[in-house]
Amino acid sequence: MDRKELIKTTFLEKYGYVPKKYAVGPGRVDLLGIHTDYNDGFVLPIAVDMDVIICGDKRNDNIINIYSCNMDSKVSFDIENNNYDENEKWSNYSRGVIKYLKEYGAEFGGADLVLESNLPIGSGLSSSAALESATGMILQALYGFECSGEDMAQIGKKSENLMVGVATGIMDQFASCNCKKDHALFLDCRTLEYKQLPLDCSMYKVVVCDTKKRRGLVDSEYDMRRAQCFEVVDILKEIYPQKKITHLRDITQEMLEENKDKLSFVQYKRAKHVISENDRGLASVEALNRGDFKAFGELMNQSHDSARDFYEVSCPELEAMVEAARQAPGALSGRLAGAGFGGCCVALVAADKIEEFKASAKSYYDAKTGLDSEYWVCSASDGAREI
Ligand code: GLA
Repeated sequence: MDRKELIKTTFLEKYGYVPKKYAVGPGRVDLLGIHTDYNDGFVLPIAVDMDVIICGDKRNDNIINIYSCNMDSKVSFDIENNNYDENEKWSNYSRGVIKYLKEYGAEFGGADLVLESNLPIGSGLSSSAALESATGMILQALYGFECSGEDMAQIGKKSENLMVGVATGIMDQFASCNCKKDHALFLDCRTLEYKQLPLDCSMYKVVVCDTKKRRGLVDSEYDMRRAQCFEVVDILKEIYPQKKITHLRDITQEMLEENKDKLSFVQYKRAKHVISENDRGLASVEALNRGDFKAFGELMNQSHDSARDFYEVSCPELEAMVEAARQAPGALSGRLAGAGFGGCCVALVAADKIEEFKASAKSYYDAKTGLDSEYWVCSASDGAREI
């Protein structure tokens, strides 16, 4: 049964009538820009063709009912009394979107909803942003209020930061709301200005390689990295009061090198990664505009190496996967995706070598780790939309 049929049938079972509207919110994979978003830097994600699909209809009261097929669980709450749910944690991503959409001024009432996701949880493809954007989109489809993709991304981020309680940047929600089919989205996380860069995948495809090592310790490590970045900002803003430094975005490689002796080695390494990653982000736009996949792949490789050596967000499984990908036929690049510490790698692979690539990477990786890796050839997809 296709997924739309599945949620329609489930909806009929749960609510006794047929749903009116359907929407999807996709996951994302970043091609460049590791841990740059909360430093006001540049990121380059695509939305993938794996997503959260959701269907529903309006109610004539203020009650939201959400049934998750994956969790086989249902939550019900009043929009006016919508708080963090300790028991059904999965629902907090949607609860947050509903709460902050109301705060934003969107006019909507209750809804009956059913959702299903084919995004692996904890793989680094941002199933959470997908759930947030799908929730916003179905309510918008049902009630017809105005909310741009840019605003919806901010509402998703607010949900993640304030309702779920994870201090992420804007990349995942922005990608899930605003990406465009066959394009990569180049986002300036300071101004939220963005460009859709054509990504012609006829010669090279984006392959997501799941290590099957689920991310551990992410929140504490993530918060620690973030804090180290702002320590550097605090030190350098004393040295350059006239420059109005607020984020690592305001610091150049030269400024960093000149003040290396005022930083601990860890602080220096963190800043070095972020500042050089922003430079690679800008260079990647030029490479993609020239259609130069080889140069782009090289930037992706450098991005990974810097994240491993300077930002230290890799792990043995990600290293094994990057090695497996880079040695496999047809590979231009292999790089960790998302926050790191497990999850997925992303590789650019020659379109005519995909099967050989998958076989080679899998036998290399599985033999080295004893894990059962998985590979998905992804198309760059549209962001959240009604279907
Ligand atoms: C996670 C966060 C993003 C971003 C990445 C690292 O995916 O949700 O905001 O910080 O990690 O680049």
